[in-house]
Amino acid sequence: MTEAILLVGGKGTRLRPLTVNTPKPMVPAAGVPFLTHQLARARAAGIDHIVLATSYLAEVFEPHFGDGSALGLHLEYVTEEEPLGTGGAIRNVAAKLRSAPGDPVLVFNGDILTGLDIAGLVRTHRTRGADVTLHLTRVPDPRAFGLVPTDDTGRVTAFLEKPQTPEEIVTDQINAGAYVFTRSVIDTIPGDRPVSVERETFPGLLAEGAHLQGLVDSTYWLDLGTPQAFVRGSADLVLGRAPSPAVPGRRGEWLVMDGARVAPDAKLAGGTAVGPGAEVHAGALVEGSTVLRDAVVEPGAVVRDSLVGAGARIGARTVLDGAVIGDGAVIGADNELREGIRVWCGARVADGSVRFSADCS
Ligand code: GTP
Repeated sequence: MTEAILLVGGKGTRLRPLTVNTPKPMVPAAGVPFLTHQLARARAAGIDHIVLATSYLAEVFEPHFGDGSALGLHLEYVTEEEPLGTGGAIRNVAAKLRSAPGDPVLVFNGDILTGLDIAGLVRTHRTRGADVTLHLTRVPDPRAFGLVPTDDTGRVTAFLEKPQTPEEIVTDQINAGAYVFTRSVIDTIPGDRPVSVERETFPGLLAEGAHLQGLVDSTYWLDLGTPQAFVRGSADLVLGRAPSPAVPGRRGEWLVMDGARVAPDAKLAGGTAVGPGAEVHAGALVEGSTVLRDAVVEPGAVVRDSLVGAGARIGARTVLDGAVIGDGAVIGADNELREGIRVWCGARVADGSVRFSADCS
């Protein structure tokens, strides 16, 4: 049986303010901390031992997941004193691995939602005799990602981080954040300083002539690093477009957690998730959005493609579209918040004070 390392120690800066109080992998998607979906998918692929590499807000993981037995897993936790980066984090947990030097070890970024055939990735690694095998996916605009061109046998030929010029964009294949390492390769990463696996370890291995294999798998893939993507991912889980054995309920237009209250004439659509203790009042419309625990959406409010933080309040008739409202923020009545706006945790927006149009009626 294969074992895995999950990288969950990043600061999640792109997802602020959601990650001010909660590390990115613990932000609920489709009703449960996002990490639950990854753990459940790993378990379904036959992995039973997972080491979580924690750093930022490390203390919240173990109280929630414990020894992992509720998910049929054996979980262990290793916390970095100082963040060691993706490569340093992998090396730092090596002492917990049980694999022999030639065995494959899976490594996952803790913010990727994907239908990747995990067993298939391990199979490719074994049959090709690779040192590292990387899941690659194709994206229309690869500028925000690391490009990974391959030759006609799938062998990696270069690593190009965040390319900008047309000449640099030599492929649409990107590093999708899931790897199989031969155990002995992990032991060669320096463990005493920050190391980026993407910027240092992989290019270094390539330069030394190591065999890095790419596997392009074009099933569902989303990097939940930004608020927009996070909300999309949660909605796709609720709708059943993204695969996970851990969605707590049937797939459909909405998911309402136990203890939430939704008025009979409120409308939920587009994969909306409403967390425990949250309230959606009369005449409100919540579409493609995530409403976290104990938040309140007041009468007639419209919430689209937005994330409402824990305990936040959205005033009557207020419109949110592509907005992120931090935990405990209070948005008064008759506001209009659109297009990537981020309201910080605990902030207050008075009634009728923000509009994106000249229409004040
Ligand atoms: P941004 O700050 O928004 O870029 O997010 P991030 O901090 O999560 O960084 P990024 O998305 O590049 O990280 C990829 C994965 O590696 C995520 O699952 C992170 O949790 C994890 N990660 C990043 N840096 C570290 C680190 O220093 N230590 C550990 N243990 N994990 C890390």
